[in-house]
Amino acid sequence: RHVAVLMGGTSSEREVSLNSGKACADALEGEGFRVSRIDVGADIPTVLTQLRPDVAFNALHGPAGEDGTIQGLLEILKIPYTHSGVLASALAMDKDRAKTVMRAAGVDVPGGLIVNRLEAARAHVLPPPYVVKPNAEGSSMGVIIVRDGRSHPPQILASDEWRFGEQVLVEPYIAGRELTCAVMGDRALGVIDIKAATGEWYDYDAKYAPGGSIHVLPAEIKPNVYHRVQELALTAHQALGCRGVSRADLRYDDTPGGTGALVVLEVNTQPGMTQTSLVPDMAAHAGLSFGELVRWMVEDASL
Ligand code: DAL
Ligand code: MG
Repeated sequence: RHVAVLMGGTSSEREVSLNSGKACADALEGEGFRVSRIDVGADIPTVLTQLRPDVAFNALHGPAGEDGTIQGLLEILKIPYTHSGVLASALAMDKDRAKTVMRAAGVDVPGGLIVNRLEAARAHVLPPPYVVKPNAEGSSMGVIIVRDGRSHPPQILASDEWRFGEQVLVEPYIAGRELTCAVMGDRALGVIDIKAATGEWYDYDAKYAPGGSIHVLPAEIKPNVYHRVQELALTAHQALGCRGVSRADLRYDDTPGGTGALVVLEVNTQPGMTQTSLVPDMAAHAGLSFGELVRWMVEDASL
């Protein structure tokens, strides 16, 4: 069968997507598929119309690849594709609206509010520590952690360099561990406890520099907490209407005197598939090679 791997694109996660795409395309070839590698640009409707692949393997990340738009095009062209459909993609990409849906499904999510970036640069919108992030980006792009009340609100938000939109999401900082759990179809995979190895937190460099982070799998947490994380990942996946593989990112406040809460920060409908990414490790832990994982995704693809 002929699989078109969609990668690259124009989002700020372009480089990440090129890496995900290459890894997936190589593995699909290894599985015996005929593979076309497509760097997605404005000519994508024509390219797909001419190519007519049996399945589009979506290896895009960020706006235009993860937000329902490319999914809508694939629906119109009647080309089955991997991962979530139009609605779930659009919803999960909007962190604030996704929280509303997850909360309604009984999943704990951070509080917080959407404000104009200039407002967030003028004064502390919440008592520190808090986090400022673009509402619809990935890979920690544009994420700012304000730890201290004596520090200024982040001035980058008011500068011309800010390229993540006028509105930003401001959330209370949740201390503790960074946990993550993928869902594959109707089952949750293993839970990873992420330790940033170089920087202070799991930022872009920690995510993608070799050795930038350590994936503790299975996470060393109590069995009932481990199970609860899996349950939350599955509930969030289903509440947002996701399909195929997704990955929920959580904070677990197990600090001394902490709340012990498990809070879902977001669901990623196009989780990274690079060499340093989390989902391939979770699949391996479940006994699936990278090749078997991408084969499953192609077989699961639909309209
Ligand atoms: N946004 C990146 C690719 C992830 O969630 O893995
Ligand atoms: Mg994300």
